[in-house]
Amino acid sequence: MDVLKAVATRRAVKQYDPDFQIPEADLAQILDAARMGPTAFNLQNWRFVVVTDPALRKQIRAVAWDQAQVTDASVLIVVCADLAAWTKNPARYWQDAPQDVQTLMAGMIDQYYRGREQVQRDEAMRSCGLAAQTLMLTAVSLGYETCPMDGFDFDAVGKLINLPEDHAIGLFVAIGKGSAPPKPRGGSLPRQDVVISNHF
Ligand SMILES: Cc1cc2nc3c(=O)[nH]c(=O)nc-3n(C[C@H](O)[C@H](O)[C@H](O)COP(=O)(O)O)c2cc1C
Repeated sequence: MDVLKAVATRRAVKQYDPDFQIPEADLAQILDAARMGPTAFNLQNWRFVVVTDPALRKQIRAVAWDQAQVTDASVLIVVCADLAAWTKNPARYWQDAPQDVQTLMAGMIDQYYRGREQVQRDEAMRSCGLAAQTLMLTAVSLGYETCPMDGFDFDAVGKLINLPEDHAIGLFVAIGKGSAPPKPRGGSLPRQDVVISNHF
């Protein structure tokens, strides 16, 4: 499926066949596509918690407004960010580059993030958002349905997945075989309302 078709057909699907299991190879392909996505300074600061344990999924559903996607989709991916990725041997994010480039990038990363907590968090959330879209478009292109979600208690989910202190949750992406079509689209704002020419 080409990208435009995946973009046009992706919908937030809320009902899933609970008996369907996504093949491991497809899930790996979806996750690997997200790993190819862009991150500032190539920090790759996303962490994908793939929740397959039914008991854990039930617990998460209980703190996610009882939304059925949480338990019924084949996988629930908690897209998290390592807020401190910039401190963790940043040269490794450039491991395939020459040594001098690795050293240069490590220095730039430190200079950019040190002491800037808001930037650390904003950048991490940008990474999560971009990764979530890649997860969804890849899943759609493989014939699955998806739902992005942030309707849950972030602290409670953090406890359930043992989220490390220096990580944050961005959002969930549920992936599976839809069992009912999504409701008709809510409507798109006209292009002229959202596209600004040069300045506001
Ligand atoms: C960050 C984010 C959080 C969302 N949270 C939920 C959610 O908790 N539950 C849900 O059913 N849909 C959720 N949605 C899906 C939106 O409701 C949906 O994307 C929107 O209505 C547009 O519909 P479409 O994606 O089918 O085009 C979320 C979407 C985004 C981007």
